[in-house]
Formats: sequence, C-alpha cells, structure tokens
Amino acid sequence: MSTKAGEIKEIKVGMLGCGVVGSSVARLLSEDSGDFAERVGATLKLVQVAVRNVSAKRDSVSSSILTGDPQKVVADPSIDIVIEVMGGIEPARTLLMTAINNGKSIITANKALLAQHGAELFDAARKNGVDLFYEASVGGAIPILRPLRESLVGDHVNRIMGIVNGTTNYILTKMDEEGSDFASVLKEAQALGYAEADPTADVEGHDAAAKAAILAGLAFHSRVTIDDVKCEGITGITSRDIQVAHDIAHVIKLLAIAEKTDTDAISVRVHPTLVPRHHPLAAVRNAFNAIFVEAESAGDLMFYGRGAGGAPTASAILGDLIAVARNKVRGGIGVGESDYAALPIATVGAVKTRYLIRLDVADKPGVLATVAQLFASHDVSIETVRQSGRGDSAELIVMTHEASEASLSATVDALSKSSVVKSVESVLRVVGNAS
Ligand code: NDP
Ligand code: HSE
Repeated sequence: MSTKAGEIKEIKVGMLGCGVVGSSVARLLSEDSGDFAERVGATLKLVQVAVRNVSAKRDSVSSSILTGDPQKVVADPSIDIVIEVMGGIEPARTLLMTAINNGKSIITANKALLAQHGAELFDAARKNGVDLFYEASVGGAIPILRPLRESLVGDHVNRIMGIVNGTTNYILTKMDEEGSDFASVLKEAQALGYAEADPTADVEGHDAAAKAAILAGLAFHSRVTIDDVKCEGITGITSRDIQVAHDIAHVIKLLAIAEKTDTDAISVRVHPTLVPRHHPLAAVRNAFNAIFVEAESAGDLMFYGRGAGGAPTASAILGDLIAVARNKVRGGIGVGESDYAALPIATVGAVKTRYLIRLDVADKPGVLATVAQLFASHDVSIETVRQSGRGDSAELIVMTHEASEASLSATVDALSKSSVVKSVESVLRVVGNAS
C-alpha cells in the first residue's frame, strides 16, 4: 500500500556498528534531531544499535538501545532504515540482505562490501523497492556519488582520477613535507581514526581499489568489481622516490584512475603516481581527498574535502539518511543503480601512460647505450635520462613517453636481466603529458 503524504510521523532507524563513524552518526542524529525532523517532515529515531561489545562505555548512545545481536536490528519489523557502519564482508553482507528482504532501506559506508557484492545488494534493493544509498563509501564527506549519479547524468564522463584514501595521503604528505618514516605516520593515521580496522587495506591500495570500482561503475553505467581493478599500494615507496619526484617538480600520490579507453572499455587502476606540482591533485594534503572528473561537456571538475574520520563520514551518512527518510515520507524511492552500458573491462597490458624508472647501474662506458637500446627494442620511447653518482653505484633516472603497460613490463623484465643493470629500484607511473 502506498504512503500518503503526511501519514508518517516517525521513522525508526537501526544501526549496525558504533565505532569511529557510527558514534558520530549517533551523536549528530541526537544533537540535530529538531532540524532533521523539519527537513524530513517526520522525526528520525535511533531505536537499536548493534555492537560487538555491549558493555563498553559509549557517550553517543544510551546503553538501553545497544544490542550484541545484529540480527535483531535487521529483523525488527518496526525499523524502517538500517545504517551499516560495522565494515567487513561478513556478517555485513548477510545482515544487509536480510534487512533488504525485510523491506528496509539501507545506508552503508562499506566500500569493501559494495565493490565485491554490490550487484547482489542492488538487485535485492530493486526487487524489494527499497533505497540503497552509499555516499559515505567514497571520499568521506565529499559529495561525489550523487553528483555522478544525478548532476552529471546528462554528460559523458571520460576519466576520473581520485585521491580517495585519507590514510595513504596522510602518510605520503608527511613523508614528502617532513621526511617522516612510514611506520610512525601510519600509527598517527590510525590514532586519528582514518585507517581501516586492518590498515593493510589502506597501504596496499585495496580500500582505494574498492572506491575506484564504485566510481567507475557509476561514471560508466556498468558493473565494476574490485577484481576488475589493477592495484598497487604505497608500501614500496621510499624516501629516495619522494626526493626524485621533488627534484622534477612532482609529488607522489596514490591515485585511483578510471577511464574509458579508445575501444570503449573501462580501465580501472590504483597505483602510486607522479603528479606535477601544478596539477590540482598535487595540492591535496594530509587526509583530504579529491576526485578530479573529466567530462565531455562539463570539462574538468574537482570535488575536494575530508575523506575520512568520524564526523566527515557521518555528514555523508546523515545526508543519505535524510534523503531516504524524505522518500519514505513522500512515498517512492530514489535513483537506483544504472548498469545499462555494460562496458567491458580493458586488458591491463593495453593501458598507456608515462613512466619514471630508477635504475642502479655501474658507471661504465656503454651502459647508457645498452639501457637505451633495451627501451627502444621494446618500443618504449625515452623522454629524458638523468644520471647521478659515479663509480660502482650510479643511478639512472629515465622518464619515458607514453607506453603500454605490456611494453613497459617487458622492458623492466629485460632491464632486470641485463648485466649492466644492478637493480631496477622503482617504476612509477606519471600523470600528464610531456612538457
Ligand atoms: P570501527 O572499527 O571504528 O567500528 C566498527 C563498529 O562495528 C564497532 O562499533 C564494532 O563494535 C561494530 N562491529 C563490528 N563487527 C561487528 C559484529 N560482527 N557484530 C556487531 N557489531 C560489530 O569502524 P569505522 O567506524 O572506522 O568504519 C565503519 C565502516 O565505515 C567501514 O565499512 C569503513 O570502511 C567505513 N568508513 C570509515 C571511514 C573512517 O574514516 N573511519 C570513512 C568512510 C567509510 P565494537 O564497538 O563493540 O567493537
Ligand atoms: N580508511 C579510509 C581512508 C577511510 O583512509 O580513506 C575512509 O574511507
């Protein structure tokens, strides 16, 4: 039966999890309840919150609404909307499927879950006529999913480049600006509430890869999962890489890149990238995120803000909560998943970019010629070469023109086997065209 306007006086909300994000959601929901009631046209009431440890003291929620059994939240027939901020794949997936099948609308910040099981959840939401909103899953406070889904739906997105992980951006910023050491800055980022429960997801790029899959799916109206994303994290980045980037007026950022190739396939990847200092993304420091969108008619757009932390993420969740609650009050649901284009995923080897390769070589006559020949024989054109050091440990820094991943990888393989190269110290991709 459809709801008549003005019929609903109160909307009951259940929450799965009450950690960094959930506790901010609960606090703001209680502090701003009067404004929210006006904005929705009905009162929003948090009625049950599932946590692991019910006896832990929590300032933001009364112990009377805590439960150690998340199943109770998703089964409670009085609950209209479930906010999922517990994280992880299971039991979150089963709980959300149960909630959806019980007719509840969902708000989630769980990018890992959406990037792996999004299709199943979206299909279930569509079948049950409920909303599944997830603005907080990418870019924390930054409104980016709704602009892609609604504001830019009349345009064609060609490419998205994003700094979408606060923890790694914080680490890279501190290494670049203060010469800090990786392990100690990671601890700081954890203490500030930016990192995932297992920070491997941040530093190995998996968190950014999940977000890249979500962005690509929305931008290109296709289903993209985390398995479609080529992913490399920042654990291999050394202070020497940062110094070399600095010397050539670049910074190293962990970028999530999603683009349409010449053959109308989708390429999605996450890797440390050299960004020219004059590019807007180079100015994004600490835990801030930014998503740079290149659209056919709109041109370049950049969405910038706090990408992690309790209150910023809660802001996005509460925005979704009010949108879903308004839908309930007025009747109907919001815009769902759009996957009509069903574009294929590009093969990794075909993707083209510029590279900076750092080699440890012996400083002997003929070495440079041999190295240049190895690049040329694999069809990789060199833009510049710089040498530093003499004698046993000279360093060659080679910047290439655009080359395919396949050609580059064959070149690196040949360099590693060459008798004139002691080691390939690093291979970094570079944004932008040669100047
Ligand atoms: P936390 O680890 O701080 O909180 C997780 C909460 O879920 C805790 O309250 C925990 O209970 C509860 N929980 C976990 N497993 C269970 C379970 N099996 N049953 C009942 N309760 C459970 O995580 P965050 O708040 O940092 O993150 C939550 C989600 O938001 C994740 O999906 C994350 O990726 C996403 N996110 C996080 C951001 C951030 O900056 N932190 C930003 C954007 C998205 P207890 O308190 O008892 O341990
Ligand atoms: N761990 C994530 C980050 C939280 O550092 O960006 C925000 O999704």
